[in-house]
Amino acid sequence: MIERILAKRIVPVVVLDDVESAEPLAEALLAGGLDIMEITFRTAAAEESIRRIASRFPEILVGAGTLLNDDQVKRAADAGSQFGLAPGLNPATIAAAQNAGLTFSPGVMTPSEVEQAMSLGCTLLKFFPAEAAGGVKMLKSLAGPYAHTGVKFCPTGGISPANLADYLSLPVVAAIGGSWMVDKKLVNAGNWTEITRLTKQALAAAAAV
Ligand code: 3PG
Repeated sequence: MIERILAKRIVPVVVLDDVESAEPLAEALLAGGLDIMEITFRTAAAEESIRRIASRFPEILVGAGTLLNDDQVKRAADAGSQFGLAPGLNPATIAAAQNAGLTFSPGVMTPSEVEQAMSLGCTLLKFFPAEAAGGVKMLKSLAGPYAHTGVKFCPTGGISPANLADYLSLPVVAAIGGSWMVDKKLVNAGNWTEITRLTKQALAAAAAV
C-alpha cells in the first residue's frame, strides 16, 4: 500500500463540493498519469465521492483526508478508502484507523509529535502545514534525529510546482501533497483539461528530481 502511495510521489488533495465531480475528476487525473487521490472529509460530498471512485476506478488508490475523529475514520473505511490522513495527531483517530485496518498518516509539525506518532505505530507522517511550519529547513532538521528510524514524511500545505523539487530532493520525504492541480475553482468549473495539464506538469517535475 505504502509503496503504491509513494510510487508517483504526489498526492492530490481534493475538496469536492459536488459528488457529480468525483468521476470526471478521477478521469482527468488518470489522463494526467496520476492514480491516487486524497478526498478530504471537509464537505458533505466526500464520503459518497470516495464510494463511487472506489467502485468505479479500481485502478485508483483512493484515500480520505482531514479525518478528525473515529466516526469519520469508520465512514471513510466503509466507503472504500484505502488510506487515511489527518492534519494533526489524535491518538483516538489513530486507534480507530488501526481497528479499521486503514493505513493512516497523522499530521505532525514538531519533534514531540514525531515521537508520539512513532510510539503509536505510525511511520509515514504528514508534515503539515509544511511551508508555514518551516518547510524544507524544518524537514532537514527533523531528519537529523529521526531519519535513522526509517520514519518518512509527506509534507503538505503551501507546496506548488515552484518548490516541489526542493521537498522531493530530501531523502526523508516520501511524497508531497498539494491541492494546486485539483484547485476547487477548476473542479467546480469542470475544467478537466487544465487539471490533466497541471497533473502532467507536476509528475514531470517530480520525475526530474
Ligand atoms: C491539506 O489539507 O493537506 C492542505 O489544505 C493542502 O494544502 P495546499 O492547499 O496548500 O496544497
